Amino acid sequence: MRGVPEPLPIAVLVSGTGTNLQALLDTVHGREAQIVAVASSTANARALQRAEEHGVPSAVFARADYSDREERDAALADWLLARGARLVVLAGYMELLSAAFLGSFANAVINVHPSLLPAFPGIRAIEQALEYGAQVFGVTVHFVDEGVDTGPVILQRAVELPDAREPQEVLAALRPLEHALLPQAVRLFAQGRLRFDPANPRRPLGDGKQQSAEWPTGLRAGRTAGGPSTGGPGDPSEG
Ligand code: GRF
Repeated sequence: MRGVPEPLPIAVLVSGTGTNLQALLDTVHGREAQIVAVASSTANARALQRAEEHGVPSAVFARADYSDREERDAALADWLLARGARLVVLAGYMELLSAAFLGSFANAVINVHPSLLPAFPGIRAIEQALEYGAQVFGVTVHFVDEGVDTGPVILQRAVELPDAREPQEVLAALRPLEHALLPQAVRLFAQGRLRFDPANPRRPLGDGKQQSAEWPTGLRAGRTAGGPSTGGPGDPSEG
């Protein structure tokens, strides 16, 4: 008889408010995953309080405290490995990671980005999209490689906002998408349900069962990696 699987030990890297960290604490933490470490690039990040409130060990790895990024990342990787982390989740982490760090967690670093990649990578993604005149916005969860927001896409969701003019308005619409998508990606990873397609390493394969019933009502659940396009619960576009 199969027992209940152990939660996957994960680390979360943050720099700011930490609403995505909160979403992970509220959903997958203690279930499919165990957040064993929260590391921040800034000492005053609100995210650090969230970790503390949940009894999760946290530490600050500020760039200014090290001679260079490589030294900072080596210390960071050592701490995360010592905590037993097997997946690293970037949740609003505003720093690039060195190749050596990525090598320590091969195919096991993921990021959430507030645009439909490959459109609008890097900082100010929502502002970039608004300045471009985009009418469809979205969120991408992807594996992290050495580029800026260039790694293979895991999950992506879009929302139509043809009248949006202000970044805050778009951010408010994207938040629920981020807070659903990032935990879902962690769940898939923890359950061993993400594999790379040898024929196209840019496309992680799911097992066709990635559709979650947990999308916020009214949002399109849409296409999942390796799965067909289907409407989500309450999807207005489905009539
Ligand atoms: C999110 O918009 C995420 O997409 C981006 O940084 C922001 C982090 O927000 N990478 P929070 O700190 O999780 O609230």
